[in-house]
Amino acid sequence: MLSDLPLFPKQASSMAWQVDALYLFLVALSAVMSLLIAGLLLTFAVRYRAKSRADRSNAPEGNNTLEMIWTLIPLGIVMFIFTWGAGLYFHMARPPEDTMDVLVVGKRWMWKLQHLSGRREINELHVPVGRAVKLTMTSEDVIHSFFVPAFRVKMDVLPGRYSTVWFKPTRPGTYHLFCAEYCGTKHSQMIGSVVVMQPDDFQAWLGGDVSDLTPAQAGERLFNSLGCITCHNPGSGARGPALTGLFGRQVRLAGGSAATADEIYLRQSIEDPRAMQVEGFEPLMPTYRGMISEEGMLQIIEYIKTLGPGPSAGAAPSAAQPARGGGS
Ligand code: CUA
Repeated sequence: MLSDLPLFPKQASSMAWQVDALYLFLVALSAVMSLLIAGLLLTFAVRYRAKSRADRSNAPEGNNTLEMIWTLIPLGIVMFIFTWGAGLYFHMARPPEDTMDVLVVGKRWMWKLQHLSGRREINELHVPVGRAVKLTMTSEDVIHSFFVPAFRVKMDVLPGRYSTVWFKPTRPGTYHLFCAEYCGTKHSQMIGSVVVMQPDDFQAWLGGDVSDLTPAQAGERLFNSLGCITCHNPGSGARGPALTGLFGRQVRLAGGSAATADEIYLRQSIEDPRAMQVEGFEPLMPTYRGMISEEGMLQIIEYIKTLGPGPSAGAAPSAAQPARGGGS
């Protein structure tokens, strides 16, 4: 219904109507309050104008009941808005489990995207309808912002960090993609489109160009060519912690603190290993800051994600490795 209004972009994701509902509620509430205040203002201005003969005797000193009413009702309204908004925020901030993941790098002035199958895109993102999609995004230079109005999705893309955003497209079509953070002279040209396809068409499209390595394969190549493998080999007595089964796990750091081995942890460990020293290991690892491109970094992280429980699977890794720390 809303999407028929020329003022609103189409609703093309599962989140869109929820965002619109909250927004409409806020607009309606503002309208009601404005009318109420302006109405009372006018009424009193006319009724108690200087020349009117209105009864001015017995002016009330105060009214506790009235005070309670206009304190508690607005309190209830704002708490209602708070719970609604917070619930929606958590829903948007927590991607579902079975997402289709896409890696995104913003740079002045383009969007570079790569599917986990290896297929790359520039300023275009193809996704299947009805499937939750999660983007892991970073920037090569300045702050950008990934904005798809039809999905009601907007998220800053920051250098040196990973931000994620997820959406589930609900209708096929082509939708605008904008950069929504001023990033220099050609900011206005940092635009593109999101193409939502039928699942079959999408599979055909995805398989249409298989010349690229998958991000995990490219990451493995980098991992080997940078020599990471010499210290991080899974054998015992290695100089660095083994990386098998690391992703998503708790890692004990020297000094007694702990960290979860997520994307940003891996990135920091690669760029500033001393700051993330894993318990039980010598601080031998040099920094790799500036030696790996943003895409390379994402690929190495994808590769580490694929390092499951390792060849010596069974009960061994989960029993032995966490005690030792693990991590980079
Ligand atoms: Cu990138 Cu504006």
